[in-house]
Amino acid sequence: MSVSYQAVGWNRTKKLYDAILVAGLLVYLGLFVGFGSVVHPNATAETLLIRGLGTAALLLLHIILCIGPLCRLDRRFLPLLYNRRHLGVTMFVLALAHGTFSIVQFHALGNVNPLLSLFVSNTRYTSLPDFPFQALGFLALLILFLMAATSHDFWLHNLTAPVWKRLHMMVYAAYGLLVAHVTLGALQSETSPLLAGLLCVGLTVVTALHIVSAIAERNRDVARCPEADGYVAVGEVGQIPEKRACVVSCGGERVAIFRYDGKISAISNVCQHQNGPLGEGKIVDGCITCPWHGYQYLPDSGASPPPFTEKVPTYRTLVVGTQVYVHPSPLPPGTRVEPSPIVAESKVVNHAQRV
Ligand code: HEM
Ligand code: FES
Repeated sequence: MSVSYQAVGWNRTKKLYDAILVAGLLVYLGLFVGFGSVVHPNATAETLLIRGLGTAALLLLHIILCIGPLCRLDRRFLPLLYNRRHLGVTMFVLALAHGTFSIVQFHALGNVNPLLSLFVSNTRYTSLPDFPFQALGFLALLILFLMAATSHDFWLHNLTAPVWKRLHMMVYAAYGLLVAHVTLGALQSETSPLLAGLLCVGLTVVTALHIVSAIAERNRDVARCPEADGYVAVGEVGQIPEKRACVVSCGGERVAIFRYDGKISAISNVCQHQNGPLGEGKIVDGCITCPWHGYQYLPDSGASPPPFTEKVPTYRTLVVGTQVYVHPSPLPPGTRVEPSPIVAESKVVNHAQRV
């Protein structure tokens, strides 16, 4: 990390982002309860609030799931990615309120512990139309809790970025459980066909965006045919501004290729701090500086300058004339690779360490 490390505070953009989020949610809940009381005059305010909170949480979850693939398809969505954690925690709070109110409303009046009642009041686990769908919502809520509780930097640092990332991939399991929770719940009640239709649209959009962005990324990979020794051509030297990087998808991973002082070096695009996009940072005082919170890495070794200990994987590079090549196999974090000098001649000028 950087000597001048400074956590990103509540800057103006973040405050604006959160203000829009809270205002949007309040408007949504107000409209939901207002229209709901007209369309369903017999529904109680508690029921409308439970439904409003549940649908708001699910809507936010769809937005969260779409942000990743949208950013891979178009960089203009990146500001949303930077603030995605706030969306995630807000979504969990809404889901928790929905789940808690539901348990109070449907399970707190008997003589069985409400949490136990959630699982034993309906045990028709083998029936599709009567399936105890609330248990699925509870399991999803547990996953969302794990994610919200570990979203703080403390956990990212202690669990390490790969474990943290794997844990947060469980969001897809939570999403699957919630699709089942709502679908099976709707089978048991008079829930409007509008909800079922919107859920179908949401599922289709989330799935389609993931498939399209994966295909686009793979096509970019394929376009770069492996050449000498398995190196992959990734673009022209002139496409990389001085002290900046271009980011390519290589062997399924994002690699940041930096140009500086007449040389080329490549490291993983993923910052060890919070998975920030290193390729969007620049070289400051000889170090690649993460645009999110300023962690720094030496371009040739991917290691943070002493006394810091963070390390990211490095990649071997080649410059042939004006063409830049990267070897798609990452080297262990912190492995030094000789930078490739940029020269005008169109012959192989470097070599990086060939392993
Ligand atoms: C302890 C966990 C949960 C319980 C006990 C629970 C309970 C319920 C109940 C009883 C309903 C039917 C409400 C009605 O039709 O009046 C419902 C519907 C719903 N739940 Fe949950 N739920 C839980 C978790 C979640 C989570 C985590 C989400 C989303 C993030 C969620 C989203 C929804 C949605 C979108 C509906 C449909 C709303 C509607 O009928 O209009 N639920 N849930
Ligand atoms: S410094 Fe925080 S993500 Fe890179």
